[in-house]
Amino acid sequence: MCGIVGYYGKDYAAKMVLDGLSQLEYRGYDSAGIALIEDSGHLIYAKEKGRLKNLEETMHVQNLEGHIGIGHTRWATHGAPSKVNAHPHLNEARTIAVVHNGIIENYMELKKELIGYGYKFVSDTDTEVIAHLIDFYEAGNLVNAVYNAAKRLKGAYALGIISSNQPDTLIAVRNESPLVIGVKGQEYMIASDIPALLKVTRDVYYMDNGEVAIIEKGKLRIQDYAGNLVQKTLTHIDWDIEAASKNGFDHFMMKEIYDQPSAIHETLARRLDSNKMIQLDDIKLSKQEFEQIQKVYIVACGTAYHAGLVGKYAIEKLAHVPVTVDIASEFRYSDPFIDGNTLLIAVSQSGETADTLAAVREAKRKGARVLAITNVVGSSVARESHDVFYTWAGPEIAVASTKAYTAQLIAFYMLALHFARIKDTIAYNDYREKVEQIEKLTPAVEEILSRKETVKEIAQTLLEAKSAFYLGRGLDYMSAMEAALKLKEISYMHTEAFAAGELKHGTIALIEEGIPVLAIVTQDRLAEKMISNMKEVKARGAYVIAIAKEGIEHIHEVADKVIELPKAPDLFMPILSVVPSQLLAYYVSTLKNNDVDKPRNLAKSVTVE
Ligand code: F6R
Repeated sequence: MCGIVGYYGKDYAAKMVLDGLSQLEYRGYDSAGIALIEDSGHLIYAKEKGRLKNLEETMHVQNLEGHIGIGHTRWATHGAPSKVNAHPHLNEARTIAVVHNGIIENYMELKKELIGYGYKFVSDTDTEVIAHLIDFYEAGNLVNAVYNAAKRLKGAYALGIISSNQPDTLIAVRNESPLVIGVKGQEYMIASDIPALLKVTRDVYYMDNGEVAIIEKGKLRIQDYAGNLVQKTLTHIDWDIEAASKNGFDHFMMKEIYDQPSAIHETLARRLDSNKMIQLDDIKLSKQEFEQIQKVYIVACGTAYHAGLVGKYAIEKLAHVPVTVDIASEFRYSDPFIDGNTLLIAVSQSGETADTLAAVREAKRKGARVLAITNVVGSSVARESHDVFYTWAGPEIAVASTKAYTAQLIAFYMLALHFARIKDTIAYNDYREKVEQIEKLTPAVEEILSRKETVKEIAQTLLEAKSAFYLGRGLDYMSAMEAALKLKEISYMHTEAFAAGELKHGTIALIEEGIPVLAIVTQDRLAEKMISNMKEVKARGAYVIAIAKEGIEHIHEVADKVIELPKAPDLFMPILSVVPSQLLAYYVSTLKNNDVDKPRNLAKSVTVE
C-alpha cells in the first residue's frame, strides 16, 4: 500500500508534492512525510503521524523552499504507525532520503548485514534498509548506488530517492508496485497513481518492473536494471481531474454512488456499435479459441469477488460454461487445476491488488488465458493479462467500492452475452432484448437515487444496533454479501450475510428482539421462500427491512420497512439492489460521524499480501 510522489521542476516542490499526496491518501493515511533538496543543496525533511493535514499543520512544510522533492503517505505494514516509522527514511548522515511503496521481503537479512557494518537503524520499517544500502554503495555516484542497492532487494517496491550529494537528481525505481512518471517540458512528477500528477500534466510514462527513471539536470531517461536505455511510449490521460474530485458532494463515496448511472452507461455504450451489438475489441478470443475453453475461473478480492459471484451466474446461464469463483488470496495457494483450456478472469478495480496479480501470474504460468476486468488503464493486472475489459467508472477514490462494483457487473453481463453469441447459446432476439434491458438500468438507478431520503430515515433506526444481518437467496445472496461488506467496513457495525435457506441450520439462533435483518427480495421465483424466511425471523423479534423489487406479494405485511426497487429482469437486479445498501451504509457511517471515505485500518489499493 502507501502512496509516493516526487517532483522536479520550476515550482516549489513542497507544494507540488503535498498536492500530489493529497490525491493519494486513499492508499494509506496513517502517517505522511516529505523530503526536499533546498536550493542551497541541503536535504531537509519532515514527517508526522496521522493524516497529511497533520504534516502540513504542524510542520508548515508548504513554505519550504527547493525544487526537487519526494513525499509519502503511509499504510503501515512493518512497524506501527508512528512518526519514526513514517517515510521518508534516511541514512545516518541525513544526505539520502527514500520513499517506498511495497514490501522488502529480505529486509531482515539486509538489516543484519548492514548492522554488521556498523549501520544504526532507528525505525521498525523494511524501507530503512534501502536508505542505508544506498549509502553503503554510494561512492560519488548516486545512480550507481541506487542500481547496486536495487539489485539486492527482494519483494515489491516503487521508490523515490533524492540525495544532497547529487542535488540535481531525482530517481525512481519500480518493481511490482505501481509507478508513473508525468512529463511537462522539463518538469517531472513521479507518483503511485495518476490523480497525483494531473494538476501538472496529462502525459505519462507507465514504468514497468525492473526500470529506473533518472531525472537529472532537467532531463529524464528510463533504463532497465542492466543500464540499457528503454524507449517508452508517452500515454495521454484523457479523463479530467474533476472526475477525481468531490464535485460538490460532502464525500467521495456519495459522489461515486451518484456516478453510477454514468459508469453503467459509459461501460455499456462505449462498446455498442450502431446496431446495438457488443463489440469487445480488446478481447481477441476467437470463436475457435472460446470453443476450446472448458472451464472459467473468476478470481478477485472483496467487492470485486462479489461481482465475480454474479459474473459466474451470468456466464453459466447465458454462455453455458462452468465457472468457479475464488478469492485471490486462496486461489494462489490452492494449486488450482488449470491448463491451456482454462480462461481466468481477474477482477480488480485498482488493477494493483497483490493477491489478484499473483493469481494472474500463477494462471499464466499454468498456461491459462487471462482476461482482466479493471478500472485503471495501464494498471499491473491490465498489463499482465492477455485481454482487458476496462470498466469506465472513472477514478474511484473512496475506500469503499461502489461504482466500480456496478461497472464490474455490467462488464460481466456484457462478457456473458458476448461469449453466448460466440458460442451460439443465445438467440439473436434474446440477445438484443437483454442489451436493451441493460440500457434501462441507468434510469432505474437514477430513480433509486432520487428516493435516497427514505434510506436515510431507515439508517437512523440502525444507529444503536450492535449487529445486523443481510439475507438473500440466489443472486440476492450474492448482493447480500456485498451489502454486508459495505455496511461493516464503513459503519463498523458487525454485519453478516446469510443464504436465507441456511437460517434454520444454525444462524437463526442469533436472532433476538430488535435485531435488524435486511432481506433482499428481487428474484421472482424465490420471493415466496424469502417471505417465509422473513416471517421466521420476524416471529423471533427481528426488525425486518426489505430491499425488494416492486410488486412482490405480501412484502409490506412481513417487513417493518420496505425500500422498493424498479422492476428489471432477475438477472440484472443485483445492479439495482446494491444501490440502497450502499446508501444505507453511507448514512449509518456518516450519522455515526465516521470517516466514511477513509474507514479505519483500510486502504484503497491493497498492494501487499
Ligand atoms: C470494499 C473494497 C474492497 C476491494 C478489494 C479489491 O469496499 O473496496 O473489498 O474490492 O480490496 O480491490 P481491487 O478491486 O482494487 O482489486
